[in-house]
Amino acid sequence: MLARTLLSRGMRAPVRNARFMCGTTDDDKLSTTDVGKSTNIRFHEGTVSRDTREEILNQRGCIVWMTGLSGSGKSTIAYTLEHALVNAGKLCMVLDGDNVRTGLNSNVGFSSEDRTENIRRIAEVAKLFSSAGVITIVSFISPYEKDRKLARGINPPQRQDFIECFLKIPIEECERRDPKGLYKKARAGMIKGFTGIDDPYEEPTDPEITITTHDENGNMQSPGEMAQILYKFLDDSGYLGPVRKMPWQGE
Ligand SMILES: Nc1ncnc2c1ncn2[C@@H]1O[C@H](COP(=O)(O)OP(=O)(O)OP(=O)(O)O)[C@@H](O)[C@H]1O
Ligand SMILES: [Mg+2]
Repeated sequence: MLARTLLSRGMRAPVRNARFMCGTTDDDKLSTTDVGKSTNIRFHEGTVSRDTREEILNQRGCIVWMTGLSGSGKSTIAYTLEHALVNAGKLCMVLDGDNVRTGLNSNVGFSSEDRTENIRRIAEVAKLFSSAGVITIVSFISPYEKDRKLARGINPPQRQDFIECFLKIPIEECERRDPKGLYKKARAGMIKGFTGIDDPYEEPTDPEITITTHDENGNMQSPGEMAQILYKFLDDSGYLGPVRKMPWQGE
């Protein structure tokens, strides 16, 4: 019954292979490979496709990668956007730099190697979320071009679902806001390697979206208006659906 339902939706049914029931010879063994420090592993393909998950959610998974200086508003805009999306019935998750550093990335610091590892891990986590169909907002300073490239490259190249959003806010404005008092500490030499002060921020050269303090008419933009730019981009690009084929016959 399950197999029939899956097949009717163009999916592969679980394989019932005589080999597994009768035992295997050495020649029949599945090949394994090494990836980094992981040895003798074999990627196990599932039978549920990304498309099916996206149909269930009636949206397309993607990664909105927000990059910008500390205080540029990444977290503020990310959570404003998340709120708007969830209000519209869209499943969304923010992976925020400071929050992820309290858990998964609590063992990486701010050296350039650690910043790279910080980004690599979150890019992998974002890939898992987006491939589950979730609109995934990453709000990390991600100051180095090579790391943002790495994050983009971790995504399957056949899907255009990595949306780099550059918060192009002048450092003077970020420093004026200084919501955590970090610029003050960095200027006083109490924080070393602070982005924009004594560690570089490499501006994105070809982001999908650039957001500035003022709109094209010279009006100051609020966090809500900035989030609206992203919302509209997602909507216009089809990420908010409709995806589900009607009538929906879920399993
Ligand atoms: N238009 C705006 N967009 C976003 N934030 C704004 C705006 N105007 C003022 N702010 C204020 O600027 C601050 C931005 O801080 P926020 O923590 O969002 O920055 P961040 O980029 O996440 O910094 P960090 O990298 O340190 O986490 C907030 O205090 C917010 O209220
Ligand atoms: Mg933040």
